[in-house]
Amino acid sequence: MAVNLKGRSFLTLKDFTPEEIRYMLNLSLDLKRKKRAGIKGNLLERKNIVLLFEKASTRTRCAFETAAFDEGGSVTFLTNSQMGKKESIEDTAKVLGRFYDGIEFRGFKQKTVDDLAKYAGVPVWNGLTDLYHPTQILADFLTVMEHCSKPLNKVKFVYAGDARNNMGNSLMIGAAKMGMHFVALAPKELFPSEELVAQMNKIAKQTGAVIELSESLDAVKGADVIYTDVWVSMGEEDMFEQRIKQLKPYQVNMEMIKKTGNDDVLFMHCLPAFHDLETEVGKDVKEKFGLESMEVTDEVFRSKHSVVFDEAENRMHTIKAVMVATMGNL
Ligand code: CP
Ligand code: NVA
Repeated sequence: MAVNLKGRSFLTLKDFTPEEIRYMLNLSLDLKRKKRAGIKGNLLERKNIVLLFEKASTRTRCAFETAAFDEGGSVTFLTNSQMGKKESIEDTAKVLGRFYDGIEFRGFKQKTVDDLAKYAGVPVWNGLTDLYHPTQILADFLTVMEHCSKPLNKVKFVYAGDARNNMGNSLMIGAAKMGMHFVALAPKELFPSEELVAQMNKIAKQTGAVIELSESLDAVKGADVIYTDVWVSMGEEDMFEQRIKQLKPYQVNMEMIKKTGNDDVLFMHCLPAFHDLETEVGKDVKEKFGLESMEVTDEVFRSKHSVVFDEAENRMHTIKAVMVATMGNL
């Protein structure tokens, strides 16, 4: 059956079949080629898009804006709305749904983006919540497709770090859907929730995916991708001391890269990354804890293995595909 995502919201990859995810990845590739060829599009012409942000962003905001402009859409960036303070999420959704053809939300609670979708009457896209970051996964998998000679369902994908955060959760969901071998490499207390793992194991049975949770660095052997994220996510800023203790052994460094035994292993990171001392937080951590870098060393970040900036660019192509597929003039 032909895939049709018109009118759908994009809240978590759990809601999408492997075929629908593949469709969005292929559409991203088409749109990327179109942009490279210098072709201005009209797939979002006459579409008004609002971007609601409770948390900071560079890539996600800019990806939504440039993607919309490339295809003739208009955006409103909204950070100081009445939502939650003087107006309920339900009422806000009903108002924005009258003005806009699509709504992006980045913030804390998954329930907020779920409720926006429930009441807005137009597609709502999750630009990151505490629980999930689904648009990032499309960009990540597109990057793997471009850089790895294997199809996704043959890829061993190791996520080292805070495996119960939005990235750990979403990568595991995406991997389960696409039939990949996914390893959450973390101390036990930072494994994804048992409930989510059980749900993904069920999906894995149908897709051929393998979901592995490991505390042992030996689990990186044979990896095609080593992925990491910040040790302390937005909204958890009081956790630095504890996370540094828990995750220091799981830092992505050259030793870990070599341990994969794969000279072509890819290093990936959703960014922003603490790989040097060129940030306020990085300097603060150096002063308090003596670390030059956190989740990844500068050496790995700048090495031939690193595809982090291709991955960042792909945020734009994949977000464009999500908007075009769910709301565009296709
Ligand atoms: N990767 C990502 O979501 O980046 P931003 O926080 O800059 O949007
Ligand atoms: N886990 C990170 C992802 C940032 C893109 C955070 O939520 O801050």
